[in-house]
Amino acid sequence: MSDHRPPLRCPVCSEPLLWESQASKTIRCALNHTFDQAKQGYWNLLLPQRKRSKSPGDNQAMVDARHQFLSLGHYQPIVNAIQNTLTNLYSHLDTPSLIDLGCGEGYYTRQIYQAMPSDSKPVTCIGLDISKPAILHASKLDKQITWLVATGADIPVMASSIDIATLIFARLLPEPTAKILKPGGYFLVVWPGPDHLRELRELIYTEVRDSDLNPDAQLSDLFEPIQCDRLGFRFTLNDEHDINHLLMMTPHGQRLHATARSRLLSQSQLTLQADIRLSLYRKR
Ligand SMILES: C[S@@+](CC[C@H](N)C(=O)[O-])C[C@H]1O[C@@H](n2cnc3c(N)ncnc32)[C@H](O)[C@@H]1O
Ligand SMILES: [Zn+2]
Repeated sequence: MSDHRPPLRCPVCSEPLLWESQASKTIRCALNHTFDQAKQGYWNLLLPQRKRSKSPGDNQAMVDARHQFLSLGHYQPIVNAIQNTLTNLYSHLDTPSLIDLGCGEGYYTRQIYQAMPSDSKPVTCIGLDISKPAILHASKLDKQITWLVATGADIPVMASSIDIATLIFARLLPEPTAKILKPGGYFLVVWPGPDHLRELRELIYTEVRDSDLNPDAQLSDLFEPIQCDRLGFRFTLNDEHDINHLLMMTPHGQRLHATARSRLLSQSQLTLQADIRLSLYRKR
């Protein structure tokens, strides 16, 4: 649990979900829909009818690969850039509440939570992902953050209750995100620019297409753009294990056939370009 009870909403009927007592491991709405906390500490608020497959989201192998890759620290500059942006926002907020959407195994969420201004203020920090293996992993590594298995398409959080949402390399769902943010709430979207991992894509595909992921157009009805920062850096993978972890956590690696995979893994070193965009929006 974070220091503050998060404003959760029943995924069945949308009434507030309340704790039965201070240390309760069950939450319940006024219509008596109940949800039990998993023994690792997370809450599963994903209704079976919301699942498009038996195990939606990233599978165990992708979660493990992402954790191994992120643990190498190559993406620390991204964490630093996120922290810089968020620190500026905290100074405007009394008791900041934050949700990290599509949080995966929680690498960024944990570091965001650590840097939230909690000295004298209660803070709410929620990590949400549709993947149970990802949230299970996250909840083993941190007991302070509220970890939710849930869909970003119908976020089980009360309307207009959150100050800041972050979305880091995950799919944009503008309407549900706007719904849970307070009026004037902030939305930080971290996304890959056109040159992100270009060398890797050149080794995989015969023709490398520029991605057209810019979130501005999709968000313009509901959010006002405030700033967009670019972050570029290079990093080197030094062996086949590290190259494989990066491959396994990206859609490129998932699509790779065996000959291309072994060609890539036979490289003794691979230096790659990271090209990241951090776009900050404010709810209209
Ligand atoms: C590329 S990963 C990024 C994970 C994490 N933000 C990071 O950068 O380490 C995308 C994540 O989105 C999750 N995801 C996919 N569809 C989702 C949905 N509808 N709602 C919530 N999470 C979803 C996946 O399970 C996966 O963990
Ligand atoms: Zn209910």
